[in-house]
Amino acid sequence: MTVDFDTPIERTGTACLKVDGAAARFGQSDLLPLWVADMDFPAPAAVTQALIERARHPVYGYTLYPDSLYEALLDWLETRHHWAVPREWLLLAPGVVPSLHAAALALTEPGEGIVIQPPVYGPFRGAVTETGRRLMENPLRFDGQRYRIDYEHLEHCARQGARLLFLCSPHNPVGRVWQADELTELMRIVERYDMRVLSDEIHHDLIYPGHRHIPLGAQAEAPTRVITALAPSKSFNVPGLGLSALIVPEARQRDALQRVFRQMALGQANPFSVVAFEAAYRNGADWLDALCNYLAGNRDRVRAMLAGQGGALRLIEPEGTYLLWLDARALAMDDAALAGFFTHKARVGLNAGIEYGQGGQGFMRLNIATPRARLEQALGRILTALHTL
Ligand SMILES: Cc1ncc(COP(=O)(O)O)c(C=O)c1O
Repeated sequence: MTVDFDTPIERTGTACLKVDGAAARFGQSDLLPLWVADMDFPAPAAVTQALIERARHPVYGYTLYPDSLYEALLDWLETRHHWAVPREWLLLAPGVVPSLHAAALALTEPGEGIVIQPPVYGPFRGAVTETGRRLMENPLRFDGQRYRIDYEHLEHCARQGARLLFLCSPHNPVGRVWQADELTELMRIVERYDMRVLSDEIHHDLIYPGHRHIPLGAQAEAPTRVITALAPSKSFNVPGLGLSALIVPEARQRDALQRVFRQMALGQANPFSVVAFEAAYRNGADWLDALCNYLAGNRDRVRAMLAGQGGALRLIEPEGTYLLWLDARALAMDDAALAGFFTHKARVGLNAGIEYGQGGQGFMRLNIATPRARLEQALGRILTALHTL
């Protein structure tokens, strides 16, 4: 399938966070926004078509989750991820971040420890602190090339009473796709200390050639210890529609999670989310293949353009996700100066690494899900700004 990812789409005026919210976010209006994790590409035509057809029916009433929606996701998991999930394990949820909060509330008691592995997607921290649980940090270890899980320290957290681990798989922002042996080692600790894992696999479809995403729940010998959160939002660029799924093998945990959603009266389906969710999983495979191919090309372009600038800015080779992690420590700027340099000197809107917690100091996160010419323009601005230093 050929898909046009090159033609820019004007997003200004659609009340979109990435563009319309950029001036307020960065304090700079003339800037190329390559920050929050959505894509500047149109969703698959099959999704847009399904939404248009639904919108043509002028009654937008209370909506069910049809059987066909569950089947579309189950088929996707089986064909794409080689994971046969029983239908009764599936719960639908109003987003992955709400699911993290719900998991904290349902699976732990107030004050109990939940582990996160920074640098990591910011709301992981909030899901622990805002639910009144104890934040336990197991920072990833960086050897200069690659990030790894610190098993010794994870075991230390477990001994200190951690009950739950929030795993980011693939890992935003460092781009790791965890390998089978890494997941096995992690589960050894989880089982030994009677912990649970909430595995956030929202980026699972966005994997670069040479790497393979392994669903933790599919490989785990004790699947009841693993709850998986996923969504079509990153894969098919429909994050504003806000529908996600949880895979929960144990009935007791499913009940506990459903109770939390019920307490908040969060069970209501949105007719547009339902239609987009099903259309994406049913008809989005070829589009997704084309997307992954385009993203690999964008990643290669970033690597090539950064190669000539003497190492001031280094790409940490990504294995998955469209979020690239750039090591800017050689610039020797503090985090405020570094953010200011990118925003006001280079005039590009990137996320500062420090937003992702410990280990993020001196790094920047670049969203490459944008037409290549725009990405090149942004990199051109960055390279020009670097020359002026
Ligand atoms: C790891 C991760 N989890 C969750 C989300 C957001 O999920 P949702 O929009 O479904 O709450 C993101 C978005 O960037 C993410 O990177």
